[in-house]
Amino acid sequence: MIKTDICELLNIEYPIFQGAMAWIADGTLAGHVSKAGGLGIIAGGGMPSELLREEIRVVKSITDKPFAVNLMLMMAEVEEQIDVCIEEGVPVVTTGAGNPGPYMEKLKGAGIKVIPVVPSVALAKRMERVGADAVIAEGTEAGGHIGQITTLSLVPQVKEAVNIPVIAAGGIANGKQFAATLALGADGVQVGTRFIVAHECNVHENYKESIIKAKDRSTVSTGNHTGHPVRVINNKLAKEMLQMEKDGATSEALEDMGRGKLRLAVKDGDIVNGSVMAGQVASMVSKRESCSEIILDLIEDAKRELDALKNRF
Ligand SMILES: Cc1cc2nc3c(=O)[nH]c(=O)nc-3n(C[C@H](O)[C@H](O)[C@H](O)COP(=O)(O)O)c2cc1C
Repeated sequence: MIKTDICELLNIEYPIFQGAMAWIADGTLAGHVSKAGGLGIIAGGGMPSELLREEIRVVKSITDKPFAVNLMLMMAEVEEQIDVCIEEGVPVVTTGAGNPGPYMEKLKGAGIKVIPVVPSVALAKRMERVGADAVIAEGTEAGGHIGQITTLSLVPQVKEAVNIPVIAAGGIANGKQFAATLALGADGVQVGTRFIVAHECNVHENYKESIIKAKDRSTVSTGNHTGHPVRVINNKLAKEMLQMEKDGATSEALEDMGRGKLRLAVKDGDIVNGSVMAGQVASMVSKRESCSEIILDLIEDAKRELDALKNRF
């Protein structure tokens, strides 16, 4: 059995988080991940607060196990979203895109565990200082908005720097990678890309197909000089954005170009002109499975790998 401090802290069976994915990680996906013993996370980024309430209630209709809401802190609706989380008794909040410091007292006062996503040691230390219960150290292999440091380099450095649990994110799609992050000191993993093809994931079928067809070099990061780089499948949109970058386009022009494009891919299935965010492990995701199969496979596979390692040396 793979049990770590994070299981006890959050009262979950397995140390596996399903990463928040804007437009993709709804109450259905999060509910089924939590039901299977992981931590399902609703992506609240950009979601009107009343829609967030509905998604929270979807989770509650599927399971009474713990789940989380991801808040993107620079979004206009964040204060209302926090009120909804408190009113609905959400047990865990993960945060991105900003400093949760100003909201910490309110969230923790309501008994909510706060777990920020961090791309660096400095930010991890700052989050611990402001009262975070754990941090998610996300490497540049991940899908979506990314930092610059790889998971392999980032996780052990964050682990060394803080005294709260560290969840590894970015580049984890199988038990070998899960086992490797445990060796790096992680107390759990956050998996995004593999859950996109889950049966319970409501993303457009074309999006799932582009993950399944991906090869090792299929993803690129765009928006590299905007300060907000994004890892996506290299399609027509990505190529156009990379060309704009080469031609010296401004950050604003690039951000304008990217606006609304994730929704286009997720909801309309336009995987040519839309933004198909995915991690480098997309090439390793070849099978459609249920959330429960994904979680059990990660656990069983990691256990086998850890045993195999013992016998190898
Ligand atoms: C399509 C997509 C959308 C994402 N949106 C968010 C988001 O809204 N908030 C967030 O904190 N992380 C977001 N992420 C990052 C994931 O939560 C997770 O950390 C990441 O996918 C893990 O790496 P992996 O893709 O290699 O599994 C997104 C990732 C993907 C693939």
